[in-house]
Amino acid sequence: MKKSIRTLFFLFFTVICSAQTDEHIQTEWKQKHTSKAAALEEFNDLKFGMFIHWGLYSIPAGEWKGQKIPGLAEWIMYHAFIPKSEYGALAAQFNPVQFNAEQWAVFAKNAGMKYLVITAKHHDGFAMYDSQVSGFNVVKATPFKRDPIDELYQACKKHGIRFGVYYSHIIDWWDGWDGGMLAADRKMTDMDKKNPMNTWDANKTTRETYINNKAKLQVAELLRKYPDMVQVWFDYWYEGKSDLYTNRQISYDFYSSVYNLQPKCLVSSRIGGGLGDYAAAGDNEIPTEGRMTYWETPGTLNNTWGYNKFDKDWKATEELLFWIAEIASKGGNYLLNVGPKADGSFPAESVRQLESVGKWMKTNGEAIYGTKKWALRREGSEAKKMKGTEEREREGFRADFKPEDFWFTAKGKTVYAIALKPAPNRLSRIRTFGQSNATGKSVKIQKVSVLGTTSPVKWKQTAEALEVQIPASLNTPNGYTVKIEFD
Ligand code: GLC
Repeated sequence: MKKSIRTLFFLFFTVICSAQTDEHIQTEWKQKHTSKAAALEEFNDLKFGMFIHWGLYSIPAGEWKGQKIPGLAEWIMYHAFIPKSEYGALAAQFNPVQFNAEQWAVFAKNAGMKYLVITAKHHDGFAMYDSQVSGFNVVKATPFKRDPIDELYQACKKHGIRFGVYYSHIIDWWDGWDGGMLAADRKMTDMDKKNPMNTWDANKTTRETYINNKAKLQVAELLRKYPDMVQVWFDYWYEGKSDLYTNRQISYDFYSSVYNLQPKCLVSSRIGGGLGDYAAAGDNEIPTEGRMTYWETPGTLNNTWGYNKFDKDWKATEELLFWIAEIASKGGNYLLNVGPKADGSFPAESVRQLESVGKWMKTNGEAIYGTKKWALRREGSEAKKMKGTEEREREGFRADFKPEDFWFTAKGKTVYAIALKPAPNRLSRIRTFGQSNATGKSVKIQKVSVLGTTSPVKWKQTAEALEVQIPASLNTPNGYTVKIEFD
């Protein structure tokens, strides 16, 4: 009896305590987060960025000891149960003679990308920059001896591209702990299945040792080395039932260390605990409308992040344009990944796609950058829902949109109607603005133009639609954008 009362009291006490810590985390976080309002707006205006996954995993590129290893290429150490001694030996082979930071920055710029985020350390624990915290890094452990993150930071600065780093804060198969996996009760199935820690060659270390002696120090190191970053892309946390893996206090400590050194630097929601400044959607997922204010979809050009020589499932230009338009019409950002090869070159197909997307952005970018979602998001047939990498890989993508499909974005008193197919006979018909339509009735159109041409445009509002004659001078194989200005 006595014992159970004591237990009850203890339980009550711990609940109260954790509620209190949670409350103070929430209050402090809110203050810091709110002070980033302008930075969030700026980030949202950038709209389109380049993600880069590059590391030791780019050498095996999906193959280990003659075997094709299924799964994401940058996860090869985990999927092939590679012991640290063997994985670490890859460093001696890392010599990307083709690497040219200037060229990468120009690729991003010409693709119309306004920011760039590169893996400073992925789950394998290898730092792609000159780290004083761990010798397992590109300068100290490879024949290359250069610091690609630093070179890229400088190149981005030169070309006016905002810079950020990806950092795997919880998972570290090199120096990390086992995430509680070895000690965990195997009946905790959620931990079993989803806690992706190194259990095949586990370290005898603790979470606190790893976090305090490596992760936190490296995050601070990156923030000191690279001032004025747009974001630190933390990845990722898993909300397990138990505190064995991670908890909200840990996420908050990471959040604060970013804030203390760079108060305007944003943090992705994958930091955990609901403490991100903006929401990172699932990989290759476009969230349902209206779910989030500031958000970003990380997406791939094929189905993997790090270079995988077997993955030839490249997205076509029209699909990529669909992602850009669909995401912008929902007010989000698109962070599109390139997985460079181990020699430092971009795969040829990635270069091709970046170029064609860039061409489209050059003409139509005004309808993307600095825009917000409008009251109405789409006109025409409903687009396929993008639910993530696996589904996209399984089902492929058919770009079966029609000339009658439009995506809307807005900037002040301007609405952009984006079409991804040419208009039949160059006559574009946007029904939303027909005079018999409630929206069409409520707005007073002042001016109509088509992006990419200075030729005056013939237009009229009929009962059914706003009819716009697309100038013959404009080449529109991948569609066009009508700019509609109101009073
Ligand atoms: C996932 C993967 C990772 C990749 C990331 C990109 O969380 O763990 O390999 O870096 O998504 O969004």
